[in-house]
Amino acid sequence: MANVMLEVKDLTTKYITRFQEDVYAVDHVSLKVEEGKSLGIAGESGCGKSTLALSLMGYYFPPLYYTSGDIVIDGRNISGMRPDEVRKSILGREIAYIPQAAMNALNPTQKIIHFIEDVIQAHDLYVTKKDIYERARILFETLGLPAEVLQKYPVELSGGMKQRTVIAVSVLLLPKVLIADEPSSALDVTSQKMVIKMLRQLMEIGLISSMIFITHELPLLYNVTDDIMVMYAGQIVEKGTSEEAVFDPLHPYSKGLMGSIIVPEKGLRDVKLTAIPGVPPNLKKPPAGCRFAERCKLAKPECFAMTIPLREVGGGRIYRCILSEEELREAYAREADQHAR
Ligand SMILES: Nc1ncnc2c1ncn2[C@@H]1O[C@H](COP(=O)(O)OP(=O)(O)OP(=O)(O)O)[C@@H](O)[C@H]1O
Ligand SMILES: [Mg+2]
Repeated sequence: MANVMLEVKDLTTKYITRFQEDVYAVDHVSLKVEEGKSLGIAGESGCGKSTLALSLMGYYFPPLYYTSGDIVIDGRNISGMRPDEVRKSILGREIAYIPQAAMNALNPTQKIIHFIEDVIQAHDLYVTKKDIYERARILFETLGLPAEVLQKYPVELSGGMKQRTVIAVSVLLLPKVLIADEPSSALDVTSQKMVIKMLRQLMEIGLISSMIFITHELPLLYNVTDDIMVMYAGQIVEKGTSEEAVFDPLHPYSKGLMGSIIVPEKGLRDVKLTAIPGVPPNLKKPPAGCRFAERCKLAKPECFAMTIPLREVGGGRIYRCILSEEELREAYAREADQHAR
């Protein structure tokens, strides 16, 4: 059986605002990433993707608070670990996180190599600058980045190069799990492709053991990650293989993220993307029933009243809806039929 690199069990976390209001941004989330595998997390802005990333690293700082659940990294349960301990022994080594817009956070007055020296020396005080340079040079060249980048300041690099540099730096300590939060969002199409290629390469050559790729664009994950989890309003609404989530979504929200008409045999280029009308609920007062019901074309009166559990379909696939697989497929077929007319 494959080694489980990361297992999150029933994790719930919240923000407490200045006005002492609770914001339930991660609600009973469970996930598992095995060695050599990658998981995509998709969902609209504000659905809790970044909060989940911070939460599953055990890195809690006000206003974010742990409520309940377990986080196990390569067999070690880190739930309840102090933030200073997490920073010392978990971040970078066990889990590396590339925050959203990380490339813009590079210190403009510092050459890349000096930034790398800081990263490595924070974990190993006795390593020499010469050794650090050699290690960085080999890593950069392995990943197809010119070694000259090491001597440059961030402003001298293009957006794509800056992002690839940030990614390379994040794997210096060979983490077991790499979390990339919207790593390609602010880039042009060519740079986006290069970033995605690089992330896949990190997995293939074993510089990282597993990966989580966060994006608001569900179709982007196809061909990049093995599995996909779709989040809505702090909860998992669907999880399955990338093929299933992209070409055969079950939950009406995932279906909406993929557009209303899906033509699998014609491939992704022919998917017509349509925005989902409405906005996600306020996470300070999440609705009692299904959180997506307000925006769901298939909602029934009971959807607004009852808590909807996740259903298992088989093969590890799950979704959160009161409608059965057959009822959903029938509804989508009817919809496609209407569009075709
Ligand atoms: N510091 C904070 N204090 C209170 N609420 C917060 C804070 N940061 C985020 N939130 C709320 O938590 C929820 C989840 O936010 P999060 O940033 O995790 O979403 P996201 O899915 O990463 O969105 P995006 O795609 O825009 O990055 C949102 O409703 C947001 O308003
Ligand atoms: Mg985010």
